Amino acid sequence: MSAMPSYERPSIQRHRAGLMNKMSAAAAYRTENRVEGVPVEELVEAYGSPVFLYGQKTLEEKTRELHDALALRWPRVQLAWSYKTCYLDAVCRVFHAEGAWAEVVSGMEYAKARRNGVPRDRIVFNGPHKSEAELREAFEGGSILNIDHFDELALAEKVAKTLPHRPKVGLRLNLQAGASPRWGRFGFALETGQAWDAVRRLVGGGELDLVGLHCHVGTFVLDLNSYREAAAKVAGLANRLRDELNINVEYLDLGGGFASSARLKSQYLPSEQTTPSLTQYAEAITDGLSALNVADEDAPLLILETGRALVDDAGTLIATVLASKRLPDGRRALVLDAGVNVLFTSWWYRHNIVPCEEPRGVPEPTVLYGPLCMNIDVVCENLMLPPLEVGSRVLIKPVGAYNVTQSMQFIQLRPAVAMINRAGDHAVIRRAETLDDLVIGETVPSWLSE
Ligand SMILES: Cc1ncc(COP(=O)(O)O)c(C=O)c1O
Repeated sequence: MSAMPSYERPSIQRHRAGLMNKMSAAAAYRTENRVEGVPVEELVEAYGSPVFLYGQKTLEEKTRELHDALALRWPRVQLAWSYKTCYLDAVCRVFHAEGAWAEVVSGMEYAKARRNGVPRDRIVFNGPHKSEAELREAFEGGSILNIDHFDELALAEKVAKTLPHRPKVGLRLNLQAGASPRWGRFGFALETGQAWDAVRRLVGGGELDLVGLHCHVGTFVLDLNSYREAAAKVAGLANRLRDELNINVEYLDLGGGFASSARLKSQYLPSEQTTPSLTQYAEAITDGLSALNVADEDAPLLILETGRALVDDAGTLIATVLASKRLPDGRRALVLDAGVNVLFTSWWYRHNIVPCEEPRGVPEPTVLYGPLCMNIDVVCENLMLPPLEVGSRVLIKPVGAYNVTQSMQFIQLRPAVAMINRAGDHAVIRRAETLDDLVIGETVPSWLSE
């Protein structure tokens, strides 16, 4: 005999747009009570709530998938893990164990890569600012260094003059490849002729060897043509370097920018229908690079600095419902213990927010807030959810990219981060902060402390 259905209190709700999708089907919600096979309650008991979890298996599998997709199509390939996307040591070490070099954009990130045991000649140093001391260290260690602007070129030449060898450098190109908005602020503009001016200036200066070209078209780039076009333009400049100046570049670095399985707020369709696969990205890039006139044995090293697409889907945040309330306009609202302080990507993503336990009651449009006393602390503006009790858990995904590195100690301390391996073992990779962490650098001047 089947179990009697439980009693549900009747309720009346005003009809609101959003209750049904365009096929007149009610929006569905799922429940999930495990992360990478580990029960949510076990994780909360170990690390508290909220807590970020990284799945090692996903990190490894994505890295292998991208590497293999590129290696099938280009003779020499190297991934360089984009540190800023998530520079927790444990996460970086998973990528390095998979053979990825480090891609860094500051002295701090460079030092972090060194601390993770990355040799200096396996660090790609990008970014709009590198100090004199940082340039020196990178040159001495044979790092791959991409120059961003003319003032940096001049500083690099100044440092080079003091060294016994001529340092190798690359140039970061800024090019029009259809990605919108165009990232105009980095590198030397190709189409205006600025990039060629930089080439002539660098070669004419005689202090540096030009060995590479770099570009990064943007982030969360869904259009494969942007990569095809960018790669073709980079290849075109490499051809010109060889034809006119007899320079054969050692590497072409196409940066990062691939989308993850997240759905942007501006996207109507679900990400399964919009996000290209890693293989499609690899194909677009190598298609574009086929404009390069070189034999396979002379092909430059193809470097990719993919961040988000490798790490985002590996990250899940467990959060807890702190309160449920009615807003003046009648909407239901939930207050979670995780807000924009730890979910930087909630400005752009419509995160997948999944209740952990089968809730009872009628789903209705719900707005989800974080715990901050700030009106802008909105995790999700509108989600069809059944009523969730105080203390209920939800999973928020994908959150592996940029959230941990950009999380703030604003009103709340930052939560723990843990990693789960293939066997289902888990360990903390950054403990939850305490007040001591917050005040560690503070001092009170003598005139106030007496
Ligand atoms: C130079 C450079 N390389 C790589 C990346 C990583 O990009 P993504 O996480 O979109 O793959 C970035 C991010 O902005 C970047 O600026």
